[in-house]
Amino acid sequence: MKYDFTITKNPNPKTKPDPDTLRFGTEFTDHMFIMEYEDGKGWHDGRIVPYGPLCLDPAAVVFHYAQEMFEGLKAYKTPAGKVQLFRPDMNAKRTNKTNDRLCIPQIDEDLYVEAIKALVKVDADWIPQKEGTALYIRPFIIADEAFLGVRRSKHYKFIIILSPVGPYYEGGLTPTKIYVEDKYVRATDGGTGEAKCGGNYAASLKAQEEAHEKGYEQILWLDGVERKYVEEIGTSNAFFMIGDEIITAPLDGTILPGITRNSVIALLKKKGIKVSERKLAIDEVVDAYKNGQFKEMFASGTAAVISPVGELCYKGDSMIINGGGIGPVAQELYDTLYGIQTGTVKDDMDWTVEV
Ligand code: COI
Repeated sequence: MKYDFTITKNPNPKTKPDPDTLRFGTEFTDHMFIMEYEDGKGWHDGRIVPYGPLCLDPAAVVFHYAQEMFEGLKAYKTPAGKVQLFRPDMNAKRTNKTNDRLCIPQIDEDLYVEAIKALVKVDADWIPQKEGTALYIRPFIIADEAFLGVRRSKHYKFIIILSPVGPYYEGGLTPTKIYVEDKYVRATDGGTGEAKCGGNYAASLKAQEEAHEKGYEQILWLDGVERKYVEEIGTSNAFFMIGDEIITAPLDGTILPGITRNSVIALLKKKGIKVSERKLAIDEVVDAYKNGQFKEMFASGTAAVISPVGELCYKGDSMIINGGGIGPVAQELYDTLYGIQTGTVKDDMDWTVEV
């Protein structure tokens, strides 16, 4: 082991959940990783300890000014019993981009990935193997200096927790119903839209709740200036198939640079499918629907994997996509991506990393 993380084994391991009834984010493993940061000392004291509550000062900066960030990736067990991660280097890079935006200290990317591997190794028995499941990994950093003035914290904790998960949406690959949000906005130029920080999600809850009340699972955000161009779906990036072109919003600062999004684009290009990262007006989607050219829509994300969209509602009018069923492109992408992740499809892209 390259880094000397101490390991304290949990003396009271929990009973593992039934993989048949796993949902997203409700179960947690026996251990977690913690490391401290202090100005002048840097990141230090990385350790694996029994999973449990944290003791934080009520004045900790994170509680008042939300100086924090988080990531998401997954570990899988292949049919041969190998444990692997999907593109963890991308999470490490994105962490440092988010850290820069949130004035959180940079973290060594190699150490970051090794910490994930060390923790996953300790709790490898928790990786569920049923179709559609995985071990979700949640690295996050919180500012824990006790200080009420507004400035960057001088102390942080980097924590990693693990959660055996089923599909993000209860219906799994059953297409979701999405509401196009035209009242609230998620991000604007110069804001924190491309950073993976909790504040973006806290600010999205109101819109999500209102969409739920109307019977929709998620919202599709429009741009924050003109409410004209499609951006992303609540917890994932959005893809539209119009005619023979697959379109997703460009990474112009307001969109989360999804690792699954990047992988989907690469897979589509490899298959010779036309894929564009470009501005797409919601009116263009509506026109395509009217002309019978709106063929498919799906969400991509670590938690969501590939989630087909069966219905999109804009200003009270519903568009039923692909007859409300999963489209062939979404199905093939899901099969390829989840297959690579779980080791049942050959990883030609060199994306998986053994633990
Ligand atoms: C992920 O897909 O890993 C995410 O971070 C989305 C999360 C907000 C559920």
